[in-house]
Amino acid sequence: MDTSFLLPSLLMLFITLNIFFTLTSSAPLPDFTTDRDALLAFKKAITVDSNGVLSNSWLTNTSICDWAGVSCGIKHHRVTALDLSNFGLHGSLSPHLGNLTFLHFLDVSSNSFTGVLPAELSKLRRLKLVNATSNSFSGEIPRGILTNMSVLEYIDLRFNNLSGALPSDTCNNTPKLKRLFLSVNKIYGKIPRSIYKCSKMEELWLSVNMLNGNIPTEVGNLSMLTFLSIYENDLQGNIPSSIFNVSRLKYIHLDGNKLSGSMPTNLDNLLNLQVLQLSNNNLTGVVSSTYI
Ligand SMILES: *[C@@H]1O[C@H](CO)[C@@H](O)[C@H](O)[C@H]1NC(C)=O
Ligand SMILES: *[C@@H]1O[C@H](CO)[C@@H](O)[C@H](O)[C@H]1NC(C)=O
Ligand SMILES: *[C@@H]1O[C@H](CO)[C@@H](O)[C@H](O)[C@H]1NC(C)=O
Ligand SMILES: *[C@@H]1O[C@H](CO)[C@@H](O)[C@H](O)[C@H]1NC(C)=O
Ligand SMILES: *[C@@H]1O[C@H](CO)[C@@H](O)[C@H](O)[C@H]1NC(C)=O
Ligand SMILES: *[C@@H]1O[C@H](CO)[C@@H](O)[C@H](O)[C@H]1NC(C)=O
Ligand SMILES: *[C@@H]1O[C@H](CO)[C@@H](O)[C@H](O)[C@H]1NC(C)=O
Ligand SMILES: *[C@@H]1O[C@H](CO)[C@@H](O)[C@H](O)[C@H]1NC(C)=O
Repeated sequence: MDTSFLLPSLLMLFITLNIFFTLTSSAPLPDFTTDRDALLAFKKAITVDSNGVLSNSWLTNTSICDWAGVSCGIKHHRVTALDLSNFGLHGSLSPHLGNLTFLHFLDVSSNSFTGVLPAELSKLRRLKLVNATSNSFSGEIPRGILTNMSVLEYIDLRFNNLSGALPSDTCNNTPKLKRLFLSVNKIYGKIPRSIYKCSKMEELWLSVNMLNGNIPTEVGNLSMLTFLSIYENDLQGNIPSSIFNVSRLKYIHLDGNKLSGSMPTNLDNLLNLQVLQLSNNNLTGVVSSTYI
């Protein structure tokens, strides 16, 4: 048997296999597919794309990293940011977004989303910002978002239709949270005492909701707080004096509640105070003219 042709053929086969394995091992295909599938599932849950951004740019023959509003990491080409603010989108937010493992920025603000915020969002362990303000989301805020997100810094869910109570272990494991914006929703129940665990909190906006019970004295443990806005709720009882110890506070809006007891008498520690609104409550006494 003449085997002289075998060697070059084997060599060719070896080279071919080698090229094949080099290509497949260096391409980040499986994870890339996960992100693509998640984004396509997101697109599928959109019922109206008023500006045509998704239909013109989210095309299956282009890289997801080139899609409008999508940003990817340089090294691994995984989706790191979704900035879809004001895209004219109607529909619901797909739970498959929870598969975008590398996402750290999620902004779907100023669209017309309805339905719930999917619980799967709390699977996004790298998330630093979630902004869903100015939509029509309803139902409860997924518990994990408020209790267990180790790098989350900004939550903005204002101007929606969210209801339910804040979990009693809010802030349990959200050590980096700086801004919690939940104003203008239908959130009821108490402000949880565990709020003090958000020790980096700078701005707490809970105004225009249906919160009741007392303002917990633990709000006064938020030593980084500059902005406390809880006006137009059903809060009652005395204003805890601990609040007037938070020297960084610039804005305190407590108006339009059922707070009782006397007006604060000593504001000496509030060195940065610019606005203190207490009107439309059931407080007695006057604020000393020293502070006006
Ligand atoms: C997202 O992950 C879940 C759980 O691993 C899986 O069942 C689902 O099919 C994934 N979604 C997509 C769009 O790949
Ligand atoms: C992708 O497909 C669309 C039509 O679906 C076409 O208009 C466009 O030219 C294609 N783009 C590329 C880069 O092939
Ligand atoms: C969320 O988005 C709105 C615009 O849609 C913006 O005004 C607001 O500052 C954003 N919130 C945060 C916390 O970045
Ligand atoms: C909020 O929900 C109520 C019904 O529960 C509905 O009538 C109203 O239109 C919704 N508002 C927004 C802004 O989605
Ligand atoms: C917090 O999140 C981590 C990571 O997803 C999870 O393993 C853990 O069970 C969660 N803890 C609680 C108390 O929910
Ligand atoms: C909150 O602050 C008060 C008064 O400064 C202090 O006695 C208390 O130990 C603090 N509580 C927590 C949980 O840090
Ligand atoms: C306010 O701060 C002072 C001094 O830091 C402390 O002695 C006092 O207990 C605090 N009061 C409240 C109500 O936290
Ligand atoms: C205001 O407080 C007084 C006593 O301090 C009480 O009699 C009255 O019912 C309260 N009014 C409201 C609207 O809560």
